[in-house]
Amino acid sequence: MIIIKSPEDIAKMRVAGRNARAICEALAARVSPGITTKALDDEAGELMRRQGVRSAFRGYRGYPGTVCISVNEEVVHGIPGSRRIAVGDIVGIDVGVLVNGFHGDTALTVMVGVTDPDVIRLVEVTKQALQAGIAQAHVGRRLSDVSHAIEKTAATAGFAVVRDFVGHGIGRQMHEEPQIPNYGPPGRGPKLLAGMTLAIEPMVNLGCAEVNMLDDGWTVVTRDRRPSAHFEHTVVVGATTAEVLTESGC
Ligand code: MF3
Ligand code: CO
Ligand code: CO
Repeated sequence: MIIIKSPEDIAKMRVAGRNARAICEALAARVSPGITTKALDDEAGELMRRQGVRSAFRGYRGYPGTVCISVNEEVVHGIPGSRRIAVGDIVGIDVGVLVNGFHGDTALTVMVGVTDPDVIRLVEVTKQALQAGIAQAHVGRRLSDVSHAIEKTAATAGFAVVRDFVGHGIGRQMHEEPQIPNYGPPGRGPKLLAGMTLAIEPMVNLGCAEVNMLDDGWTVVTRDRRPSAHFEHTVVVGATTAEVLTESGC
């Protein structure tokens, strides 16, 4: 069952969404050559304390970090640690918070002095794929219209979407129904209704679509170890457009 949120619920999700995005963008601004992913995670913890919000990730199925930081060949769910950011890296930052009983979940990929034109294009196309998906998230469309728009954007550019991980409904739970694949034919699945809240999150690979899980049980990497990009917004389905709840608000 897909839970439809009331206007009061959505107001709370707007707060959670803005908090998550503000932290995500603050971390993105701190990424520079030499910094460890653990230092970024510590900063996230400090920002959450200051805002009075909780990490939605820490302790989730035993996840040990405050946020997820996924570098280059790491697709998603990178555990912050001693890895140091280097010039030429792309860094995925995924932030989830719980505020007032509701979740916000958002991610972006930042480039650190990247000059490889294929990598720059990968990051830009993944961001466009998210926007293309969001553009379908309104009444009159079906769920797989979102999926299809994402896949089409990535595939047209010659990139492969990850199939083993998906977007999701979000609300009182971080992961609610429905699952939102980043691929598929249009016009299938449930009709989108006003008040559905969705975390749309394309993961796009430069090389092949296949991924592996590292021995830490969390970090997802590309099988060919070539780079992968990830962007995510939490949105609410509206009559003619989606509202992005994870907008920075300033
Ligand atoms: N934020 C991820 C998502 O987009 C989930 C993170 S899993 C966790 O769905 F364990 F790190 F919390
Ligand atoms: Co996320
Ligand atoms: Co998510």
